[in-house]
Amino acid sequence: MYTSRRTFLQNSTKLAAALTLAASGLSSCTNAQTDERKDAVDENKPLKILILGGTSFLGPHQIKAALDRGHQISTFTRGKTKPTIHQDLFSEVEALVGDRENDLKALEGRDWDVVIDNSGRRVEWTKKTAELLRDRVGQYVYISSTGVYYPYLTEHIKEDQPLVMEVPSPLEDEEQKLEYGYGVMKANSEQAAKAVFGEERTLVIRPTYMVGPADKTDRFIHWPIRLSQGGKTLVPGKTGDPVQYIDVRDVADWMIQLIEAKTTGVFNAVGPAEAQDMYTFVEKASTAFDLERELIQIDDYDFLKANKIPYLIPWILPEGNNWGSARVNNQLAVAKGLSFRPLADTIRDTHDWWISDGVSQEQRDKVMKDAKGVLMREAEVLAAWEAIQNKG
Ligand SMILES: NC(=O)c1ccc[n+]([C@@H]2O[C@H](COP(=O)([O-])OP(=O)(O)OC[C@H]3O[C@@H](n4cnc5c(N)ncnc54)[C@H](OP(=O)(O)O)[C@@H]3O)[C@@H](O)[C@H]2O)c1
Repeated sequence: MYTSRRTFLQNSTKLAAALTLAASGLSSCTNAQTDERKDAVDENKPLKILILGGTSFLGPHQIKAALDRGHQISTFTRGKTKPTIHQDLFSEVEALVGDRENDLKALEGRDWDVVIDNSGRRVEWTKKTAELLRDRVGQYVYISSTGVYYPYLTEHIKEDQPLVMEVPSPLEDEEQKLEYGYGVMKANSEQAAKAVFGEERTLVIRPTYMVGPADKTDRFIHWPIRLSQGGKTLVPGKTGDPVQYIDVRDVADWMIQLIEAKTTGVFNAVGPAEAQDMYTFVEKASTAFDLERELIQIDDYDFLKANKIPYLIPWILPEGNNWGSARVNNQLAVAKGLSFRPLADTIRDTHDWWISDGVSQEQRDKVMKDAKGVLMREAEVLAAWEAIQNKG
Protein backbone atom coordinates (compact mmCIF):
# COMPACT_ATOMS: atom_id res chain seq x y z
CA MET A 1 0.00 0.00 0.00
CA TYR A 2 1.47 3.37 -0.84
CA THR A 3 1.54 6.13 1.76
CA SER A 4 -1.83 7.55 1.12
CA ARG A 5 -2.94 11.03 2.00
CA ARG A 6 -5.34 9.46 4.46
CA THR A 7 -2.65 7.56 6.28
CA PHE A 8 -0.88 10.88 6.60
CA LEU A 9 -3.96 12.57 8.00
CA GLN A 10 -4.48 9.81 10.53
CA ASN A 11 -0.84 9.83 11.58
CA SER A 12 -0.20 13.54 11.64
CA THR A 13 -2.37 14.31 14.63
CA LYS A 14 -0.76 11.52 16.64
CA LEU A 15 2.71 12.60 15.63
CA ALA A 16 2.04 16.21 16.45
CA ALA A 17 1.59 15.32 20.10
CA ALA A 18 5.09 13.88 20.16
CA LEU A 19 6.73 17.02 18.86
CA THR A 20 8.26 19.58 21.17
CA LEU A 21 7.62 23.28 21.35
CA ALA A 22 11.28 24.21 21.44
CA ALA A 23 12.35 26.87 18.96
CA SER A 24 13.86 25.62 15.72
CA GLY A 25 16.95 27.06 14.12
CA LEU A 26 14.82 27.90 11.11
CA SER A 27 12.42 30.08 13.02
CA SER A 28 14.42 33.18 13.92
CA CYS A 29 12.80 36.48 13.06
CA THR A 30 15.32 39.27 12.51
CA ASN A 31 14.88 43.03 12.81
CA ALA A 32 15.31 43.25 9.06
CA GLN A 33 12.27 41.02 8.65
CA THR A 34 10.28 43.20 11.04
CA ASP A 35 11.17 46.27 8.98
CA GLU A 36 10.15 44.47 5.80
CA ARG A 37 6.80 43.78 7.41
CA LYS A 38 6.29 47.46 8.21
CA ASP A 39 7.07 48.35 4.60
CA ALA A 40 4.56 45.78 3.46
CA VAL A 41 1.90 47.31 5.70
CA ASP A 42 2.59 50.75 4.26
CA GLU A 43 2.34 49.60 0.65
CA ASN A 44 -0.62 47.24 0.85
CA LYS A 45 -3.79 47.30 2.85
CA PRO A 46 -3.25 44.71 5.55
CA LEU A 47 -5.79 41.91 5.40
CA LYS A 48 -7.48 40.25 8.34
CA ILE A 49 -7.05 36.54 7.64
CA LEU A 50 -8.66 33.67 9.54
CA ILE A 51 -6.96 30.29 9.18
CA LEU A 52 -9.07 27.29 10.10
CA GLY A 53 -6.13 25.28 11.39
CA GLY A 54 -2.74 26.93 11.11
CA THR A 55 -0.49 25.13 13.56
CA SER A 56 0.79 22.02 11.81
CA PHE A 57 2.52 22.07 8.40
CA LEU A 58 1.07 24.43 5.80
CA GLY A 59 -0.33 26.76 8.49
CA PRO A 60 2.92 28.04 10.04
CA HIS A 61 4.31 28.80 6.56
CA GLN A 62 1.14 30.68 5.59
CA ILE A 63 1.43 32.65 8.83
CA LYS A 64 5.06 33.53 8.09
CA ALA A 65 4.20 34.62 4.54
CA ALA A 66 1.18 36.65 5.68
CA LEU A 67 2.93 38.39 8.61
CA ASP A 68 5.89 39.22 6.38
CA ARG A 69 3.42 41.00 4.09
CA GLY A 70 1.92 42.93 7.00
CA HIS A 71 -1.35 41.02 7.32
CA GLN A 72 -3.12 40.05 10.55
CA ILE A 73 -3.81 36.42 11.41
CA SER A 74 -6.31 34.58 13.58
CA THR A 75 -6.16 30.79 13.82
CA PHE A 76 -8.97 28.44 14.84
CA THR A 77 -7.95 25.06 16.29
CA ARG A 78 -8.68 22.76 19.19
CA GLY A 79 -5.41 23.94 20.76
CA LYS A 80 -3.88 20.49 20.52
CA THR A 81 -1.36 20.69 17.68
CA LYS A 82 1.76 22.72 18.44
CA PRO A 83 3.88 24.21 15.65
CA THR A 84 7.31 22.72 15.07
CA ILE A 85 8.53 25.71 13.10
CA HIS A 86 8.15 29.51 13.33
CA GLN A 87 7.06 29.13 16.95
CA ASP A 88 8.15 32.69 17.71
CA LEU A 89 5.61 34.12 15.26
CA PHE A 90 2.64 32.73 17.15
CA SER A 91 2.85 35.51 19.75
CA GLU A 92 1.65 37.78 16.91
CA VAL A 93 -1.30 35.52 16.07
CA GLU A 94 -4.76 35.54 17.64
CA ALA A 95 -5.42 31.92 18.65
CA LEU A 96 -9.14 31.06 18.72
CA VAL A 97 -10.09 27.73 20.24
CA GLY A 98 -13.02 25.46 19.40
CA ASP A 99 -13.75 22.32 17.42
CA ARG A 100 -14.96 22.05 13.84
CA GLU A 101 -16.96 19.03 14.89
CA ASN A 102 -19.21 20.77 17.39
CA ASP A 103 -17.97 24.14 18.69
CA LEU A 104 -17.69 27.17 16.39
CA LYS A 105 -18.62 29.75 19.04
CA ALA A 106 -15.24 31.54 18.84
CA LEU A 107 -16.02 32.41 15.19
CA GLU A 108 -19.43 33.93 15.88
CA GLY A 109 -19.93 37.70 15.44
CA ARG A 110 -16.45 38.25 14.01
CA ASP A 111 -15.35 39.73 10.67
CA TRP A 112 -12.37 38.85 8.47
CA ASP A 113 -11.37 39.67 4.90
CA VAL A 114 -10.48 36.07 4.09
CA VAL A 115 -10.90 32.63 5.61
CA ILE A 116 -8.44 29.87 4.68
CA ASP A 117 -9.86 26.41 5.32
CA ASN A 118 -6.80 24.21 5.92
CA SER A 119 -8.40 21.77 8.33
CA GLY A 120 -11.32 20.69 6.14
CA ARG A 121 -11.58 16.96 6.68
CA ARG A 122 -15.35 16.57 6.48
CA VAL A 123 -17.73 18.12 3.96
CA GLU A 124 -20.06 19.12 6.81
CA TRP A 125 -17.25 21.07 8.52
CA THR A 126 -16.70 23.21 5.43
CA LYS A 127 -20.43 23.69 4.86
CA LYS A 128 -20.97 24.85 8.47
CA THR A 129 -18.05 27.30 8.62
CA ALA A 130 -18.92 28.69 5.19
CA GLU A 131 -22.53 29.26 6.30
CA LEU A 132 -21.45 30.86 9.58
CA LEU A 133 -18.97 33.21 7.85
CA ARG A 134 -20.86 33.94 4.60
CA ASP A 135 -21.85 37.53 5.45
CA ARG A 136 -18.83 38.37 7.61
CA VAL A 137 -15.92 37.28 5.43
CA GLY A 138 -15.11 38.39 1.88
CA GLN A 139 -13.48 35.27 0.46
CA TYR A 140 -13.38 31.53 1.22
CA VAL A 141 -10.14 29.72 0.38
CA TYR A 142 -10.42 25.95 0.48
CA ILE A 143 -7.29 23.78 0.59
CA SER A 144 -8.21 20.76 -1.44
CA SER A 145 -5.83 18.23 -3.02
CA THR A 146 -4.90 16.61 -6.31
CA GLY A 147 -6.48 13.60 -4.57
CA VAL A 148 -9.76 14.81 -6.15
CA TYR A 149 -8.49 13.33 -9.45
CA TYR A 150 -8.37 9.76 -8.09
CA PRO A 151 -8.42 7.38 -9.94
CA TYR A 152 -5.53 8.92 -11.87
CA LEU A 153 -6.09 7.38 -15.27
CA THR A 154 -5.09 10.20 -17.61
CA GLU A 155 -2.20 12.62 -18.11
CA HIS A 156 -1.98 16.44 -18.21
CA ILE A 157 -4.78 16.47 -15.63
CA LYS A 158 -6.33 19.93 -15.66
CA GLU A 159 -8.57 21.71 -13.16
CA ASP A 160 -11.69 21.24 -15.27
CA GLN A 161 -11.49 17.46 -15.34
CA PRO A 162 -14.81 15.99 -14.13
CA LEU A 163 -14.43 14.66 -10.56
CA VAL A 164 -15.73 11.54 -8.88
CA MET A 165 -18.32 12.84 -6.38
CA GLU A 166 -19.38 9.52 -4.83
CA VAL A 167 -17.34 6.57 -3.63
CA PRO A 168 -18.17 3.68 -6.00
CA SER A 169 -19.57 0.64 -4.30
CA PRO A 170 -18.94 -2.13 -3.67
CA LEU A 171 -15.19 -1.69 -3.26
CA GLU A 172 -13.18 -4.58 -1.87
CA ASP A 173 -9.77 -2.97 -1.77
CA GLU A 174 -9.09 -1.02 1.47
CA GLU A 175 -6.54 1.24 -0.20
CA GLN A 176 -9.04 2.17 -2.90
CA LYS A 177 -11.70 2.89 -0.29
CA LEU A 178 -9.36 5.35 1.42
CA GLU A 179 -8.26 6.96 -1.85
CA TYR A 180 -11.79 7.39 -3.15
CA GLY A 181 -13.00 8.50 0.29
CA TYR A 182 -10.45 11.29 0.54
CA GLY A 183 -10.88 12.52 -3.04
CA VAL A 184 -14.67 12.50 -2.80
CA MET A 185 -14.56 14.34 0.55
CA LYS A 186 -12.30 17.04 -0.91
CA ALA A 187 -14.35 17.34 -4.12
CA ASN A 188 -17.61 17.74 -2.19
CA SER A 189 -16.02 20.17 0.25
CA GLU A 190 -14.94 22.36 -2.67
CA GLN A 191 -18.55 22.29 -3.86
CA ALA A 192 -19.84 23.12 -0.37
CA ALA A 193 -17.61 26.21 -0.15
CA LYS A 194 -18.68 27.38 -3.63
CA ALA A 195 -22.34 26.73 -2.94
CA VAL A 196 -22.28 29.07 0.06
CA PHE A 197 -19.78 31.77 -1.00
CA GLY A 198 -20.44 31.59 -4.74
CA GLU A 199 -17.75 30.95 -7.36
CA GLU A 200 -16.96 34.67 -7.42
CA ARG A 201 -15.81 34.59 -3.78
CA THR A 202 -14.17 31.15 -3.60
CA LEU A 203 -10.59 30.10 -4.25
CA VAL A 204 -9.71 26.39 -4.33
CA ILE A 205 -6.10 25.20 -4.15
CA ARG A 206 -5.30 21.58 -5.02
CA PRO A 207 -1.75 20.77 -3.87
CA THR A 208 0.07 17.60 -4.79
CA TYR A 209 2.43 16.14 -2.14
CA MET A 210 3.65 19.10 -0.12
CA VAL A 211 7.17 18.71 1.19
CA GLY A 212 9.50 20.83 3.29
CA PRO A 213 10.22 21.83 6.88
CA ALA A 214 7.56 20.88 9.46
CA ASP A 215 6.18 17.94 7.48
CA LYS A 216 5.35 15.55 10.30
CA THR A 217 4.56 12.62 8.04
CA ASP A 218 7.26 10.08 7.36
CA ARG A 219 6.57 10.15 3.63
CA PHE A 220 9.27 12.39 2.19
CA ILE A 221 11.80 12.60 5.02
CA HIS A 222 13.52 9.49 3.60
CA TRP A 223 15.30 11.69 1.04
CA PRO A 224 16.66 14.47 3.29
CA ILE A 225 17.90 11.80 5.72
CA ARG A 226 19.27 9.42 3.13
CA LEU A 227 20.95 12.04 0.97
CA SER A 228 22.66 13.57 4.00
CA GLN A 229 24.57 10.27 4.01
CA GLY A 230 26.64 9.08 1.05
CA GLY A 231 27.25 5.66 -0.48
CA LYS A 232 25.13 3.36 -2.61
CA THR A 233 21.66 4.89 -2.86
CA LEU A 234 18.58 3.04 -4.03
CA VAL A 235 16.50 4.83 -6.66
CA PRO A 236 13.20 3.06 -7.39
CA GLY A 237 11.40 3.18 -10.73
CA LYS A 238 11.94 3.07 -14.46
CA THR A 239 13.57 5.87 -16.42
CA GLY A 240 10.74 8.27 -17.22
CA ASP A 241 8.59 7.46 -14.16
CA PRO A 242 7.22 10.93 -13.39
CA VAL A 243 7.29 12.55 -9.95
CA GLN A 244 5.49 15.64 -8.66
CA TYR A 245 5.79 17.48 -5.37
CA ILE A 246 5.82 21.07 -4.14
CA ASP A 247 7.67 22.89 -1.39
CA VAL A 248 5.07 23.87 1.21
CA ARG A 249 6.60 27.37 1.37
CA ASP A 250 6.00 27.88 -2.36
CA VAL A 251 2.32 27.07 -1.79
CA ALA A 252 2.11 29.37 1.23
CA ASP A 253 3.83 32.36 -0.40
CA TRP A 254 1.79 32.02 -3.59
CA MET A 255 -1.50 31.71 -1.70
CA ILE A 256 -0.91 35.01 0.05
CA GLN A 257 -0.25 36.64 -3.35
CA LEU A 258 -3.49 35.17 -4.71
CA ILE A 259 -5.44 36.40 -1.72
CA GLU A 260 -4.01 39.91 -2.03
CA ALA A 261 -5.07 39.93 -5.69
CA LYS A 262 -8.54 38.60 -4.70
CA THR A 263 -8.04 35.72 -7.14
CA THR A 264 -10.83 33.17 -7.37
CA GLY A 265 -11.08 29.86 -9.21
CA VAL A 266 -9.46 26.44 -8.93
CA PHE A 267 -5.71 25.79 -9.22
CA ASN A 268 -3.46 22.73 -9.14
CA ALA A 269 -0.51 23.58 -6.86
CA VAL A 270 1.95 21.19 -8.42
CA GLY A 271 5.70 21.21 -9.04
CA PRO A 272 8.27 20.95 -10.36
CA ALA A 273 8.07 23.49 -13.18
CA GLU A 274 8.97 20.95 -15.86
CA ALA A 275 8.29 17.22 -16.06
CA GLN A 276 10.82 15.29 -13.97
CA ASP A 277 11.49 11.60 -13.56
CA MET A 278 12.53 9.84 -10.37
CA TYR A 279 16.17 9.43 -11.29
CA THR A 280 16.50 13.12 -12.12
CA PHE A 281 14.74 13.97 -8.86
CA VAL A 282 17.35 12.05 -6.86
CA GLU A 283 20.21 13.52 -8.88
CA LYS A 284 19.00 17.08 -8.27
CA ALA A 285 18.12 16.42 -4.63
CA SER A 286 21.60 14.94 -4.05
CA THR A 287 23.24 18.27 -4.79
CA ALA A 288 22.01 19.45 -1.36
CA PHE A 289 24.97 17.59 0.17
CA ASP A 290 28.49 17.38 -1.22
CA LEU A 291 29.07 13.65 -0.70
CA GLU A 292 30.36 10.67 -2.65
CA ARG A 293 27.46 8.48 -3.70
CA GLU A 294 26.41 5.95 -6.32
CA LEU A 295 22.79 5.98 -7.43
CA ILE A 296 21.50 2.48 -8.11
CA GLN A 297 18.28 2.44 -10.11
CA ILE A 298 15.97 -0.51 -9.52
CA ASP A 299 13.62 -0.49 -12.50
CA ASP A 300 11.92 -3.86 -12.00
CA TYR A 301 8.43 -3.22 -10.61
CA ASP A 302 7.98 -6.87 -9.60
CA PHE A 303 11.24 -6.83 -7.64
CA LEU A 304 10.22 -3.57 -5.96
CA LYS A 305 6.79 -4.94 -5.04
CA ALA A 306 8.31 -8.19 -3.76
CA ASN A 307 10.62 -6.09 -1.59
CA LYS A 308 7.75 -3.96 -0.29
CA ILE A 309 8.73 -0.75 -2.09
CA PRO A 310 5.59 0.15 -4.07
CA TYR A 311 6.32 3.83 -3.35
CA LEU A 312 9.05 6.05 -2.02
CA ILE A 313 7.46 9.50 -2.17
CA PRO A 314 7.57 11.37 -4.48
CA TRP A 315 7.78 8.14 -6.52
CA ILE A 316 4.67 5.99 -6.62
CA LEU A 317 4.61 2.90 -8.78
CA PRO A 318 2.73 4.25 -11.81
CA GLU A 319 0.24 1.48 -12.43
CA GLY A 320 -3.54 1.05 -12.27
CA ASN A 321 -5.42 3.86 -10.54
CA ASN A 322 -2.10 5.57 -9.68
CA TRP A 323 -0.83 5.75 -13.26
CA GLY A 324 -1.44 9.51 -13.56
CA SER A 325 -0.93 10.62 -9.94
CA ALA A 326 2.21 12.54 -10.98
CA ARG A 327 0.80 13.67 -14.32
CA VAL A 328 -1.13 16.72 -13.15
CA ASN A 329 -0.98 19.95 -15.18
CA ASN A 330 0.30 23.10 -13.43
CA GLN A 331 -0.01 25.66 -16.26
CA LEU A 332 -2.90 27.59 -14.77
CA ALA A 333 -1.13 28.05 -11.43
CA VAL A 334 2.18 29.01 -13.07
CA ALA A 335 0.34 31.60 -15.16
CA LYS A 336 -0.96 33.03 -11.85
CA GLY A 337 2.53 33.31 -10.37
CA LEU A 338 3.25 29.92 -8.75
CA SER A 339 7.02 29.51 -8.67
CA PHE A 340 9.34 26.82 -7.39
CA ARG A 341 12.46 27.09 -5.25
CA PRO A 342 15.44 24.83 -6.04
CA LEU A 343 14.94 21.23 -4.90
CA ALA A 344 18.31 21.23 -3.11
CA ASP A 345 17.03 24.06 -0.87
CA THR A 346 13.95 22.03 0.03
CA ILE A 347 16.07 18.98 0.89
CA ARG A 348 18.63 20.95 2.92
CA ASP A 349 16.05 23.03 4.83
CA THR A 350 13.95 19.97 5.60
CA HIS A 351 17.04 18.21 6.91
CA ASP A 352 17.90 21.26 9.05
CA TRP A 353 14.38 21.16 10.52
CA TRP A 354 14.62 17.40 11.07
CA ILE A 355 17.71 17.76 13.23
CA SER A 356 16.41 20.90 15.00
CA ASP A 357 14.83 21.12 18.46
CA GLY A 358 11.43 21.30 16.73
CA VAL A 359 11.57 17.53 16.20
CA SER A 360 11.77 15.15 19.14
CA GLN A 361 14.26 12.29 19.28
CA GLU A 362 11.27 9.98 19.61
CA GLN A 363 10.00 11.12 16.21
CA ARG A 364 13.42 10.78 14.64
CA ASP A 365 13.85 7.28 16.05
CA LYS A 366 10.41 6.28 14.82
CA VAL A 367 11.49 6.92 11.23
CA MET A 368 15.16 6.00 11.39
CA LYS A 369 14.74 2.77 13.35
CA ASP A 370 11.65 1.55 11.54
CA ALA A 371 12.50 -2.03 10.59
CA LYS A 372 9.91 -1.91 7.79
CA GLY A 373 11.19 1.39 6.38
CA VAL A 374 13.48 1.60 3.36
CA LEU A 375 16.19 3.37 5.38
CA MET A 376 16.75 0.26 7.47
CA ARG A 377 16.28 -2.23 4.61
CA GLU A 378 18.12 -0.43 1.79
CA ALA A 379 21.47 -2.28 2.03
CA GLU A 380 19.73 -5.65 2.08
CA VAL A 381 17.51 -4.80 -0.91
CA LEU A 382 20.46 -3.46 -2.90
CA ALA A 383 22.45 -6.62 -2.17
CA ALA A 384 19.56 -8.76 -3.42
CA TRP A 385 19.28 -6.61 -6.54
CA GLU A 386 22.99 -6.77 -7.27
CA ALA A 387 22.98 -10.54 -6.84
CA ILE A 388 20.29 -10.80 -9.54
CA GLN A 389 22.23 -8.44 -11.85
CA ASN A 390 25.45 -10.41 -11.39
CA LYS A 391 23.68 -13.69 -12.23
CA GLY A 392 22.13 -12.17 -15.35
N1 LIG B 1 0.52 17.44 3.21
C1 LIG B 1 0.25 17.24 1.95
O1 LIG B 1 1.06 16.73 1.19
C2 LIG B 1 -1.08 17.69 1.39
C3 LIG B 1 -1.31 17.55 0.02
C4 LIG B 1 -2.52 18.00 -0.51
C5 LIG B 1 -3.46 18.60 0.31
N2 LIG B 1 -3.22 18.71 1.65
C6 LIG B 1 -4.21 19.38 2.49
O2 LIG B 1 -3.60 20.52 3.05
C7 LIG B 1 -4.34 20.92 4.19
C8 LIG B 1 -3.40 21.52 5.18
O3 LIG B 1 -3.00 20.59 6.19
P1 LIG B 1 -1.98 21.00 7.37
O4 LIG B 1 -2.05 19.93 8.40
O5 LIG B 1 -0.67 21.30 6.78
O6 LIG B 1 -2.66 22.33 7.92
P2 LIG B 1 -2.41 23.19 9.25
O7 LIG B 1 -3.41 24.28 9.21
O8 LIG B 1 -0.98 23.57 9.40
O9 LIG B 1 -2.78 22.15 10.44
C9 LIG B 1 -4.00 21.48 10.55
C10 LIG B 1 -4.79 22.13 11.68
O10 LIG B 1 -6.08 21.57 11.84
C11 LIG B 1 -6.43 21.73 13.22
N3 LIG B 1 -7.54 20.84 13.51
C12 LIG B 1 -7.57 19.48 13.39
N4 LIG B 1 -8.77 19.00 13.79
C13 LIG B 1 -9.52 20.08 14.14
C14 LIG B 1 -10.85 20.23 14.63
N5 LIG B 1 -11.66 19.17 14.83
N6 LIG B 1 -11.29 21.46 14.89
C15 LIG B 1 -10.50 22.55 14.71
N7 LIG B 1 -9.22 22.47 14.24
C16 LIG B 1 -8.74 21.24 13.96
C17 LIG B 1 -5.12 21.40 13.93
O11 LIG B 1 -5.04 21.94 15.24
P3 LIG B 1 -5.58 21.13 16.54
O12 LIG B 1 -5.08 19.72 16.41
O13 LIG B 1 -4.97 21.86 17.67
O14 LIG B 1 -7.07 21.22 16.48
C18 LIG B 1 -4.10 22.07 13.02
O15 LIG B 1 -3.88 23.41 13.38
C19 LIG B 1 -5.19 19.74 4.59
O16 LIG B 1 -6.53 20.01 4.26
C20 LIG B 1 -4.69 18.60 3.68
O17 LIG B 1 -5.74 17.72 3.31
C21 LIG B 1 -2.06 18.28 2.20
